[in-house]
Amino acid sequence: MSMKTIRVLVLVCSTRPGALGPAVGKWLTGALEARAGELDVELVPLSLGDLGLSFLDEEEEPSSGIYAHEHTRRWSALVDAADGFLVVTPEYNYGMPATLKNALDHLGREWAWKPMGFVSYGHTSAGTRSVQHAKQVVTTLRLVPLGATLAMRIGDTVQDGQVRPGAAAAETAVGVLEELVRVSHALRPLRERSRPGVQAGPLPGSYLRALTPDDAPEVTVLQRCCWVEEALANESLDIPALHESPERVREWMASWTTTGLWRDGRLLGMVRTRRVDSDWHVGRLAVVPDLRGRGLGRWLLRTAETGVDPDCLRVVVHTGVRSERNIRLYRSEGYLAAPPADDGTVCLTKEMVASLAG
Ligand SMILES: Cc1cc2nc3c(=O)[nH]c(=O)nc-3n(C[C@H](O)[C@H](O)[C@H](O)COP(=O)(O)O)c2cc1C
Repeated sequence: MSMKTIRVLVLVCSTRPGALGPAVGKWLTGALEARAGELDVELVPLSLGDLGLSFLDEEEEPSSGIYAHEHTRRWSALVDAADGFLVVTPEYNYGMPATLKNALDHLGREWAWKPMGFVSYGHTSAGTRSVQHAKQVVTTLRLVPLGATLAMRIGDTVQDGQVRPGAAAAETAVGVLEELVRVSHALRPLRERSRPGVQAGPLPGSYLRALTPDDAPEVTVLQRCCWVEEALANESLDIPALHESPERVREWMASWTTTGLWRDGRLLGMVRTRRVDSDWHVGRLAVVPDLRGRGLGRWLLRTAETGVDPDCLRVVVHTGVRSERNIRLYRSEGYLAAPPADDGTVCLTKEMVASLAG
């Protein structure tokens, strides 16, 4: 499981004066706090009443992502930045409250491929009809409702005017959070793939995205499996990519632009670039061993070249002097090799104006 932080909005739906919802929401975040810390979850409590949303007043449909009003843009940014939701909801007339439906209706793609767990409360039904109602609506938005749920009867929950659901309810709430975290991690590849501007990769289902230092664990694994052949070919273990620690990878990722090719949550390949004076340096070109020979390396190399600053004069790559496969690839893409260096590497360059301008 990925260890990236999961940001969960805890949405309190009821807005009427004296509503029970805020107290239920407060109890819930308190009950989840310790486990959230262990699971690397950031809980963000939010009352729908504080969003300042009016009844849907946007001219364009939410699927367009064109929002005229500041309140919608603010709501969009909050939902977009979230990895999942816990909805604290009452049951109004056997259904979800209009505040929740309205908040859902305001947005489109921001909801997609994120888990939604429910904590409901009500009289005999314990709010379960509200949750059933909400579930059939949220699936349309590609939200993924959880099976785990907490439904509380008000009579069992409120004592002397205080919300006191008890240990069993707290345990159930933790179970909802745990399921939410698992589902959120599993859905991450779908979320990433459907983000605006994400470029499709050359294999069906694959996509390209910028890597950040948080991707250092995956990059470390890819490097260690990819540079073994280089070590064998060059009869040397003195290859940084082979033994860099995740911390060291994290460090260099802060000063390079690194692009990763992903499919179904797996990092299939990568390449890094940066400008040095008037040169465009390309390096760490890697493809997982089982997908070699399918043109992915060539595709990543060309992708790295398209990012070049217009006033750079050359693209520069380095490889082992006996890394014949790499050298063949670079030569076939127009790179010329300099004489080998003393450290067992060779530098290959491609003039920009002649080779890339057209
Ligand atoms: C408009 C309205 C409709 C209600 N409908 C239901 C209902 O269908 N089922 C139910 O169990 N309770 C129903 N109730 C009672 C609520 O469960 C109870 O008032 C609860 O405190 C509402 O949550 P809130 O205080 O956070 O608004 C309704 C309450 C209101 C205000």
